[in-house]
Amino acid sequence: MKRTTLTQFLIEQQRNHNTVPAELRLLIEIVARACKAIGHNVGKGALGGVLGSLDSENVQGEVQKKLDVLSNEILLEANEWGGHLAAMASEEMETIHRIPNRYPQGEYLLLFDPLDGSSNIDVNVSIGTIFSVLKAQDHVAGKDVTEADFLQPGKQQVAAGYAVYGPQTMLVLTFGHGVFGFTLDREMGSWVLTHPDIRIPEETKEFAINMSNERHWAPPMRRYIDEALAGTEGPRGKNFNMRWIASMVADVHRILNRGGVFIYPWDAREPGKPGKLRLMYEANPMAFIVEQAGGAATNCVSRILDLQPTTLHERVSVALGSKSEVELLTRYHNEA
Ligand code: AHG
Ligand code: MN
Ligand code: MN
Ligand code: MN
Repeated sequence: MKRTTLTQFLIEQQRNHNTVPAELRLLIEIVARACKAIGHNVGKGALGGVLGSLDSENVQGEVQKKLDVLSNEILLEANEWGGHLAAMASEEMETIHRIPNRYPQGEYLLLFDPLDGSSNIDVNVSIGTIFSVLKAQDHVAGKDVTEADFLQPGKQQVAAGYAVYGPQTMLVLTFGHGVFGFTLDREMGSWVLTHPDIRIPEETKEFAINMSNERHWAPPMRRYIDEALAGTEGPRGKNFNMRWIASMVADVHRILNRGGVFIYPWDAREPGKPGKLRLMYEANPMAFIVEQAGGAATNCVSRILDLQPTTLHERVSVALGSKSEVELLTRYHNEA
């Protein structure tokens, strides 16, 4: 059987399709290497002393787990010296991280959620890393990039991906020409193309949402879920199944492979906050991947990739996955 490694795949994309410029290819290779290192630490668990929490909080007021901070450090260190980046931003850092002067600078901006699914770290359930790549648009060489350079709508992403640390470690990538999945060959230490063209099934009977928050949702959200819960007796005329892993990466990974819809909606407990998930390093990269796999992604009202971010850590409602479901619940919100 012919095995295509990530390196071969990226070179072929560059050569045959001209979809991945050389600098971007090298940047992705470095991110992939960092994910391999994060996966290695995740795999050690208690034996590596990496479980548990720290005393610190991140800018969003969440208690940081040891692995949140370690994964952030691994990504920063790996990507600093590569020469393809102007700056990075992360869930775990209040402001942007410019590339130090001792390294060459590039034109790309990298954003990441270093460890997604923090509540699952200590219980040995799948977690992941999410990343998004933008270009510093009007950046003048020699001038420092600022946070404003990052505030671009998701449709301007040049690449996005995630790694999932589960029974297998996988890397899923898009450059805007389909979605590709690689499985880590742990003996060889290489990423092997195992899922060459991921397409989300159009129709589904499965939803992923934290049902414990139902009483706090907006009426259109309750309508959508109530109708699904009514099963064959209700207007949908079919029975639905529910899954909630509580790691966005793992929930989205399941949806990419067997369909479904993932929803994290607005919640009346914090009326001023548009949602829980973060636009720039959770919703945007996942929306890009999902659309490229033939699905849809909205903030329950409009397309996520069209939203103009106003701050780095901005939050957003998220509904993504099988197109027909996302369209239906988005219609309910727009009609209300
Ligand atoms: P993070 O661990 O990066 O802060 O993200 C957590 C997110 C996301 O992964 C998941 O879908 C959601 O929080 C889980 O929320 P609940 O605690 O409501 O299940
Ligand atoms: Mn967090
Ligand atoms: Mn997350
Ligand atoms: Mn995180």
